[in-house]
Amino acid sequence: MLPVPALITSRGALFRSDCLELLGAVRPESIACVFADPPFNLGKDYGAGAREDLRGDEAYLHWCRSWLSECCRVLAPGGALFVYNLPRWLVPIGAFLMERLDFRHWIALTMKSTYPRGGRLYPAHYGLLYFTKGAPRIFNKLRVPVPACRHCGRDLKDYGGHRGALNPAGLSLTDFWEDTSPVRHRKFKTRAANELKPMIPRRALEMSTDPGDLVLDPFGGGGSTYKAAEECGRHWLGCEIGDCAPILERLASFDTRSRLPVVVRSALTARSLPLVRMR
Ligand SMILES: C[S@@+](CC[C@H](N)C(=O)[O-])C[C@H]1O[C@@H](n2cnc3c(N)ncnc32)[C@H](O)[C@@H]1O
Repeated sequence: MLPVPALITSRGALFRSDCLELLGAVRPESIACVFADPPFNLGKDYGAGAREDLRGDEAYLHWCRSWLSECCRVLAPGGALFVYNLPRWLVPIGAFLMERLDFRHWIALTMKSTYPRGGRLYPAHYGLLYFTKGAPRIFNKLRVPVPACRHCGRDLKDYGGHRGALNPAGLSLTDFWEDTSPVRHRKFKTRAANELKPMIPRRALEMSTDPGDLVLDPFGGGGSTYKAAEECGRHWLGCEIGDCAPILERLASFDTRSRLPVVVRSALTARSLPLVRMR
């Protein structure tokens, strides 16, 4: 049974719980999009209540397979699953998903300020796997601004004399995202542990869902996905095993409620609901 939500807004609900507990309470095929940015097994400290982020390789992958299976189960036909991680883990995760879902893309996102470790190439990208359950129900084509020099404002690339023919709405989004490097400066961070630029989940949601659809992020962190969902009119469901305070702070300006939104409540099994209703 789920605990009382840590936060309810007019569009979503956050539970302080283990992801398997939340996923276990979700009805099959009820979610339009899952966005998952799990711990990378690098020994990061995610604060009070969080599990230790350093296990043996097989133990980590075993854990990943358990929540990924649940994500596949709750995904609606045509729904999308995004998994953000290091290439090292995305290879086995992708192989597991290939047996269950349809591969769409490996999106590479530039990684800044890292350093090479003994006898390896300089790591320069994170990966975002994009799978769907059968043919995608929604695929919205996104556009990005034409890249310009931040000093002089001139185009960074030469369009071979066809600059004038470019779509004024911008360039088609590709599977290589160079404008999404993680927020590093403390001033712009709301929490100590990894927080994605909201642009990353936002693109995933806008690409694969329509307003009103329900998205789920099982690893709340600083709440980037929930904020993106609020801002682009999607419903959302999420959980965080550790401290939820950064998410509450991040979403403080959104409309809070005492009852679950109908779309969210309908995605939860009857068994999981009684305690939620007591709120
Ligand atoms: C990489 S962070 C997610 C960051 C988030 N995408 C953001 O941009 O703010 C992973 C989060 O998952 C949480 N976490 C770890 N194990 C979990 C579990 N079993 N269930 C739920 N959350 C978990 C950690 O405490 C951490 O906050």
